[in-house]
Amino acid sequence: MAFNQIIGDSPAMHKVFNQIKQAAVTEIPIMLIGETGTGKDLVAQAIHNYSPRKDQSYIPVNLGAIPTQLVASELFGHEKGAFTGALRTHEGKFEQADKGTIFLDEIDAIDEKVQVSLLRLIEHKKFQRLGGTNSIAVDVRMIVATNADIDDLVNDNNFREDLFYRMDVFRITLPPLRARKTDLSLLCDAFLQNFNKSFDKNISGISPSCMDVFYNYEWPGNIRELKNVVQRAVLLCNGEQIQTEHLPARFKNTESDASGPELTFTIGTPLDTVEKEMILAVLNATANNRTEAARLLGISRRALYNRLSRHNIK
Ligand SMILES: Nc1ncnc2c1ncn2[C@@H]1O[C@H](COP(=O)(O)OP(=O)(O)OP(=O)(O)O)[C@@H](O)[C@H]1O
Ligand SMILES: [Mg+2]
Repeated sequence: MAFNQIIGDSPAMHKVFNQIKQAAVTEIPIMLIGETGTGKDLVAQAIHNYSPRKDQSYIPVNLGAIPTQLVASELFGHEKGAFTGALRTHEGKFEQADKGTIFLDEIDAIDEKVQVSLLRLIEHKKFQRLGGTNSIAVDVRMIVATNADIDDLVNDNNFREDLFYRMDVFRITLPPLRARKTDLSLLCDAFLQNFNKSFDKNISGISPSCMDVFYNYEWPGNIRELKNVVQRAVLLCNGEQIQTEHLPARFKNTESDASGPELTFTIGTPLDTVEKEMILAVLNATANNRTEAARLLGISRRALYNRLSRHNIK
């Protein structure tokens, strides 16, 4: 099934759909947590579309993509002459979002100064443009998102706790694709149809061995990665069915990459030990290149870091 373009039928996604519906009818701040490519943008848009504000503006802002020194001016605007280069008055994203919804993506990317301004805005529902003296009142519904471990950032004092609690009122956690592989065929079918249409092709399906490869892959880039893989395969395929030969090289790595030194384990070795030994061996083989090690292990860098700390590997 699809909910406002969000495809999924796994229990984890049904939970997300329900949370979107619950969140949409309220005015409370929402925090979306999920790895890259899990659909945070789609969910934010869906919350807005199902909310009483749906006919007002929806303003997404990717804070991670704005140079740090420009973030404040982007969000709050500035008056003419506020700083060198401020040639005219600029309306910020909060003013544009008045009566509607603002989506602040990569919220972990803002510095201490912007954190303070944001906290004031949430508390007083008012703010000033840079270089301005007038208080501007806004009525904005706020959705924030991050793919960083925000709880860690707060614990390590890299993100203000008072601001965090103001934003973390209703949390929606998006599952990684590897945790909902039962949705793979549904997603594949939908993407196949889309790209058949855009490339004017008529591919009927994905071969069983290809689906096997998909089921055994960790999908560090989640749905975005799957979508790109299907797109590429549709472009390359001239036959009836997408085959493993239409997949990027990283999917064939089980044979070619597994050519290094071998590890042997006795039956009964605890999985935890196997995992630790394998990680150590791969780090050794890659001269400690963690990006490459994660790729060889078929997991995301974040997942590798989590395991390194779990196994106490320095
Ligand atoms: N459940 C889904 N059904 C259909 N398409 C999806 C789904 N989740 C994600 N996508 C698609 O995958 C791509 C990435 O999604 P999106 O931009 O929402 O991810 P994100 O979590 O915001 O990632 P990032 O952290 O990198 O910004 C988009 O093209 C989106 O349409
Ligand atoms: Mg995003």
